[in-house]
Amino acid sequence: MRAGSVAACGLALAMALPALAWAQASVPKVDVMHWWVSQGEQASIDVIRRYVRQAGMAWQEEARPGSGTARYGDFVRQRVEAGRPPAAAQMIGFDIHYWARRGALASLDAQARVQEWDEVVPYGIQRLSKYQGHWIAAPINAHATNWLWVNKSVLDRLGGTAPDNWDALIALLEKAKAAGVVPLAIGKEAWEQTLLFESVAAGVGGAEFYRRAFLDLDPQALQPQLLRTIFQRMRQLRAFADAGLAGRTWDQATRMVMAGQALLQVQGTWVNGEFTSRRMVPGRQFACFLFPDTQGIYLFNADQYVFFQGAAMADATRGRFAATLMDTGLQRDLNIATGAAPARVDVALEPFNACGQQLIRHLRASNMRRTVLGSVAMGNANPPAVKTAIYQLVHAHFTGAIDDETAIARLQAAISGPASE
Ligand code: GAL
Repeated sequence: MRAGSVAACGLALAMALPALAWAQASVPKVDVMHWWVSQGEQASIDVIRRYVRQAGMAWQEEARPGSGTARYGDFVRQRVEAGRPPAAAQMIGFDIHYWARRGALASLDAQARVQEWDEVVPYGIQRLSKYQGHWIAAPINAHATNWLWVNKSVLDRLGGTAPDNWDALIALLEKAKAAGVVPLAIGKEAWEQTLLFESVAAGVGGAEFYRRAFLDLDPQALQPQLLRTIFQRMRQLRAFADAGLAGRTWDQATRMVMAGQALLQVQGTWVNGEFTSRRMVPGRQFACFLFPDTQGIYLFNADQYVFFQGAAMADATRGRFAATLMDTGLQRDLNIATGAAPARVDVALEPFNACGQQLIRHLRASNMRRTVLGSVAMGNANPPAVKTAIYQLVHAHFTGAIDDETAIARLQAAISGPASE
């Protein structure tokens, strides 16, 4: 390009600048807080960002890791207490009700009516997205937690297949151990170990036990013999993990499976997102199997967005952002990236990978049977105080600090205690 035309361009740009500044000032902005920082999660937030921009809004974000568990929640609380709540925040489970109870969240009823959220969001998720009958959160996905994520070539090398029941799972893990592969990859955090616990508990006790014990907090459901089996199975699984778990996060455990250092991980469907972000395909590089004996149950963790009152966001912008999040196109593209099922049951399943398609079918069927049940570990089953008590006892048991009987007594106390927040 010649110097003259550079100058001409500069001039044109200078003349356009005031108009540009005006246009920017009038573009509605969404100010978002979220915890999506791993490679797969970044691919997911990219989708939301793209849809927001396409809908004519500017995007501003603050990302803090912590998987929606304590650390991230602390950051949200700090911002609210400092008088600068995020306009919109990613949130899961009963943390949503914590803020709703304080009158901190804006109602999304108007948007919900227009897009008929009541008709398309699974009943089990609505229980968390609504407070006292009003929509206060927009669910963007339905992750499931009762899944095994398996390295396919290790599985083939071992001559293994999908474990259909508990004994088959143990036999498969034994094979990996004998072959010198870490059978079970897991990290150090209590929520991850509680993920393992909830699948074991659902497998041992079934849907009704899980609902009564963890959602209804009914102490009558806690038959000692059943609890003994659960903790005995947890001990059995612990023996298949390696010592390295003490210094590892959930996504590092996922990378062990990817690299074939470990056979499998028991985790949420965000692991499907991690594989997908690395162009790995089910049936080739990895496999997904339902946790044995939980075949009829969809243990869910729905990522949702809440909108804080008192943040600088016009009602119309809030409505537009919520509508964008609930758009079927966003829920399709987003969840191809997240690895979850969409939070709406009416999104076509064809574009999803094989694990995603299985999930969507499983969610629809479980919704009909009312076995879409909240994940304990991800705070979708019960209030934070109960969840935290369960974290502590499961972690103490998993790391060998307490025995089965102590864990049982502490679980009974956690479930029977006052259901405060
Ligand atoms: C969950 C969230 C997932 C994924 C996971 C791991 O709480 O629902 O989308 O982010 O944490 O960080």
